Amino acid sequence: MYKTPEDFVDELWEDNQVLYKASQIQIKAFYDSKPDNDKLFNNFVRRMTNERMNMVEIAKAISASAYDTDPKELVSLSKQMLDEANHFRMVYDIIPHVSGKECDLGRDVPVELADLKTKGARIAERYDVENDPIALALYQSIVEGHASCNWQVMADTMEDPILSTTYAKIAADERFHAKLGKHSLAKMLDTEEKQEYARELAKKMRKDLYDINCGGNIPVEESRKMIEEYYGEDFIAGKGHTTVELKEIYS
Ligand SMILES: [Fe+2]
Ligand SMILES: [Fe+2]
Repeated sequence: MYKTPEDFVDELWEDNQVLYKASQIQIKAFYDSKPDNDKLFNNFVRRMTNERMNMVEIAKAISASAYDTDPKELVSLSKQMLDEANHFRMVYDIIPHVSGKECDLGRDVPVELADLKTKGARIAERYDVENDPIALALYQSIVEGHASCNWQVMADTMEDPILSTTYAKIAADERFHAKLGKHSLAKMLDTEEKQEYARELAKKMRKDLYDINCGGNIPVEESRKMIEEYYGEDFIAGKGHTTVELKEIYS
């Protein structure tokens, strides 16, 4: 059914919220479970590498952009690319502070890049965002929106003011990236066919994000239930994430 592009984008955003909430619970559970330094190190090297991948994917989209791309759009994408480069640097800088271990980029980044399961930026590659403007805008609105909620819950969970301020800054940037994506979608999704395409792609991206979040944090039973109730059983069918109940973490 055709909706105005603005209504369509509002609905799409609304449909992300249960996933975002479920992911936040799982991230908070990870930090509240008092992970040791090795786990923290791995977690942050993963986050750092994800930021680097975001930078690279946006750079690819800029370099592959059509000649008639709105110059303002290119400015926004370039700003996003610079933000991701800064996130990469910021996470790199806090790794010793958070885990007591130094990161060796030449050693640690390739190992992370070989692990396909735990990074949101993989979604950009999988859906070929550099050649598909709708996929790019969906990626920005759904995956960056997810990232903003994730960094925000980390900012709220950390007592250390350095960490908390760094994460809050990253969260604010990711919120801005999600806004850019929503804005582009509202400009593009002006036919029923395009909306149907976007709706199906959005479902796949949300499923992937749930998987990625389970892989990198603690799969929580309460989150699984929220997901199943809102998105349906087939959203998590065959996933095989072993979940724990919150009371096991907070007892
Ligand atoms: Fe980022
Ligand atoms: Fe971002």
